[in-house]
Amino acid sequence: MCGIVGAIADRDVVPVLIEGLKRLEYRGYDSAGIAVVDGADIRRVRRTGRVAAMEDASAAEGFAATLGIGHTRWATHGGVTESNAHPHVSHGVALVHNGIIENHEQQRERLKALGYEFESQTDTEVIAHLIHHYLQDGADLLAALQRAVKELHGAYALAVVSRKEPERMVVARMGCPLLVGLGEGENFVASDVSAILQATRRVIFLEEGDTAEISRDAVRVFDGDDQPVQREEHLSDVSLSSLELGPYRHFMQKEIHEQPRALGDTMEAIIDAGGFEPTLFGKDADAVLREVEGVQILACGTSFYAGSVARYWIEAISGLPCSVEIASEYRYRTAVANPKHLVVTISQSGETLDTMEALKYAKSLGQDLTLSICNVPESAIPRASRLVFYTRAGAEIGVASTKAFTTQLVGLFALAATLAKVNGRLPEAKEAEYIEALRHLPGDVQHALNLEPQVAMWSEHFTPREHALFLGRGVHYPIALEGALKLKEISYIHAEAYPAGELKHGPLALVDDDMPVVVIAPNDSLLEKVKSNMQEVRARGGQLFVFTDADSNFADSEGVHVIRTERHVGVLSPIVHTIPVQMLAYHVALARGTDVDKPRNLAKSVTVE
Ligand code: G6P
Repeated sequence: MCGIVGAIADRDVVPVLIEGLKRLEYRGYDSAGIAVVDGADIRRVRRTGRVAAMEDASAAEGFAATLGIGHTRWATHGGVTESNAHPHVSHGVALVHNGIIENHEQQRERLKALGYEFESQTDTEVIAHLIHHYLQDGADLLAALQRAVKELHGAYALAVVSRKEPERMVVARMGCPLLVGLGEGENFVASDVSAILQATRRVIFLEEGDTAEISRDAVRVFDGDDQPVQREEHLSDVSLSSLELGPYRHFMQKEIHEQPRALGDTMEAIIDAGGFEPTLFGKDADAVLREVEGVQILACGTSFYAGSVARYWIEAISGLPCSVEIASEYRYRTAVANPKHLVVTISQSGETLDTMEALKYAKSLGQDLTLSICNVPESAIPRASRLVFYTRAGAEIGVASTKAFTTQLVGLFALAATLAKVNGRLPEAKEAEYIEALRHLPGDVQHALNLEPQVAMWSEHFTPREHALFLGRGVHYPIALEGALKLKEISYIHAEAYPAGELKHGPLALVDDDMPVVVIAPNDSLLEKVKSNMQEVRARGGQLFVFTDADSNFADSEGVHVIRTERHVGVLSPIVHTIPVQMLAYHVALARGTDVDKPRNLAKSVTVE
């Protein structure tokens, strides 16, 4: 969480910083600020709320400079106030920080004893004072940063400027993403490439423990031992259009509608490989997947629900045991390691701290077979994994994940089928059937998207409510969970999901004519069971909103509203049935007037515990 950006150029960098922060707002949007080196001074502007508010203030105060840093915050230590907003300043040193400093209290006491006064409740302010302390001790800005970070425990990406050194900024990274953007006679730093794409596509990803010194004409990188190192230059292929809204009202709406394209791009690799080949997961994959005797999936949020769908697929298709666990729980329990189990981390961003730490924990237990399903190339989690499947959803900006989820499902389905294949459990005819189903998927999803007007009409039943229940069975139960999560994230309606068979064991007590009940009920082997569960709801006056397919012979009746997808698509049905629940959440949020793309209290990329 929190986004950082910095720039040094011959031109005014303030517009670059502001534009960059707007692109980074998905990382947090509690407050924003910039600091620039202006002559022999540091000038700073900070505002609570969105970047736009800070932009107005900086314009009013006539900010312009050739060196500066900026920050957009998701509050952890200290409330959402201007004094807690970044940049933090200590005697002419200004700094922005993403991450958490765990030993900030000890450092605070020590620095107070040295005479430093604190203006904020943040963990970050100690770093500014620490750097200043080492500058006082005779170090230059780079050396002061390098000394300071050695005393920090926790995670950080940092960018620092000093009024005494107007020709450079210095940066550091540990546990949070940071990259350097290379321009012509100007250079940049950012949490992610979207922030600087307006200026350059040439980037260097800093490694854990790196520090760097960035001037207009040069970038010098140092490793954790402060030794100069070369880091490879990459050319980003993120497109600017993927960061623009185009004709859509919200990024979430755009991203929902991009799913046929995103799914098509993601499955292209499978079609190109001619089937479910281990090479889909990397060079080393054949040897690794042949060793696998079971699967342990670790993830958070929507990615956890993707993993929950995958469990059904992996056990049914490959015959291997599979468990799925929330990463933040797994990392703190005494787990029984099985070195023959493949640890699969799923993360759209590739930087979710809990997922990363769960992966490290699994590795520390001797689990060496690791695979990551991720949407962001070169991000931390895939880099820490032996195998990787990159989804090709394209940049996802809306905080509520949509196209990342459905493309993760494609990657996970490919994993289930590939594990089956290496274990001799995927007959050619079955493989051909699966490939055919994948080929049809973008079209099937497009048909589901075409149901939007009907789904939108349902929103009036939900908009005035404070609660909703989602039901599903089997592989569609995680889709009910995902539907409930989407609704609560963006409309703030309390929503819960249950396996429909569990209804009678408790949640049925909640059902009355005030409780809308959404049911995912495709024409699969559990349909008749789900129908019985629906009767239980109707008998208590509950209103049913049923997403099904044309094959299931459901009809509208008193208290039963039905929307049908075109046909039952078989094994990939959970992907198709995700679309209507996404659209329902979107339209209810729209009707309730919430901030769809930036729901309160949330952030897209959660790099703190
Ligand atoms: C945050 C986001 C969710 C996301 C979760 C996991 O909570 O708001 O949309 O599902 O993090 O993120 P990841 O990047 O690891 O998939």
